[in-house]
Amino acid sequence: MTLSAEPVIEVLLPAGGDRTLPQDTRIGLSADPKSIPPKHFYDEVGSELFEQITELPSYYPTRAEREILISRGAELAALTETSDLVELGSGSADKALLLIEPMLATGGLQRYLGVDVSESALRSALKTINSIHPELQVRGAVADMTRQLAALPPAVGRRSVALLGGTVGNFPEQPRRRLLKAIADLAGPDGRVIIGFDKVKDPAILVAAYDEPEGVTARFNLNLLTIINRELGADFNPADFEHVALWNEDEEWIEMRLRARRPISVAIDGLGVSFEFAAGEEILTETSAKFTRQSVSDDLTSAGMEICGWFEDSESRFALAVAKPMPAAAQ
Ligand code: AVJ
Repeated sequence: MTLSAEPVIEVLLPAGGDRTLPQDTRIGLSADPKSIPPKHFYDEVGSELFEQITELPSYYPTRAEREILISRGAELAALTETSDLVELGSGSADKALLLIEPMLATGGLQRYLGVDVSESALRSALKTINSIHPELQVRGAVADMTRQLAALPPAVGRRSVALLGGTVGNFPEQPRRRLLKAIADLAGPDGRVIIGFDKVKDPAILVAAYDEPEGVTARFNLNLLTIINRELGADFNPADFEHVALWNEDEEWIEMRLRARRPISVAIDGLGVSFEFAAGEEILTETSAKFTRQSVSDDLTSAGMEICGWFEDSESRFALAVAKPMPAAAQ
C-alpha cells in the first residue's frame, strides 16, 4: 500500500474511554463464582483473534449475518432511510461497509459514527471506510456502550443505531434491556435500531462455534489473562488454565470459562492483592445469549420499541431485527 493522507477521524471520547478493568478484576475475582466481563477481551491481540474466529468453519454467526446484509441490504436501507448511522462495537470495516453501501445507494447516508472500546480496531476500521468512501463523514468514539451512549453527539436527520454480530447476547437480560433502552434514546423518536441476534439452535452446533479444533477461541479466551498481566501487573501463567465452552440450557446462553488446571495463587501487583484458585475452579469470562423471535420481541418491547423488520439467513441461524421506538401513548 502507498502512503496516503490521514483520513479525518475525530475521536470524540478520549482513548481509554473504558477504564473499568481494575474494578471489574478486583470485584470479579473476589466473587464466588469468579467472573470477568467479556468487553475486556478486545486489546489489539484479542481483536485480531476475534477476526480469526469469524473465519473459522464452525463459527457461523458472522457469515450468516453477512449473508443477510448482502441479500437484504437494499431492503434494510429502504426500511430505515438512514442519514446518520451509528455502529456500536464497530470492530471490522467490512461488516460496516455492508450496511453503509446500501444506505449510500439510497442517497440518504451522510454520516457514520463508529463506537468501540478498542481504539486500535476502531482506527483501522475508520481508515478503511474513509478510504473507500471519502464522501462520507466518518467519525469514531472510543467508548463503553453500557455507560457512555448519552455522551455521543445528537442525530442529524434520521439516525439508525446498529449493534451487529450478536454482541447484544453478551449482556444478561436486565443489563441487555437497559442497553436497548439507551440505544432507543440514542436513535431518537424518529430513529431506527438494527440489531443482530444469534438464534437458539442445536446445542452441538452452538458449542462447536465456541470450542473448535483450531483452538483460536481458546487463545482468545486465554488472552484475557495476558491482558490482566500487562494492564494490572498480574502473574497469571495462561498455561495453568484451560478453555471451557458449554451450553447453559436454563439461561439459553453459551458460557465460556477459564478453568484452573491445578491449585494456583495469582498476585496482582496493580491491585495489591492475591487470588487463590482451587484445582478445577473457573472464571466465567463470557455469556453469549441466543434468541427466538419471541424473546427478541419481549426485549424490544421492554425497551419501548417494536419490531418493524425481521431478516434471517437462508438457514435461519441468525436474525437481524429492525425496530423503532413506540409512540409514547402506546407504551
Ligand atoms: C462478538 C460477542 C458476538 O459471542 O459470539 C466469539 C464473541 N466469543 N467467540 C460471540 C465470541 C467467543 C462473540 N460476540
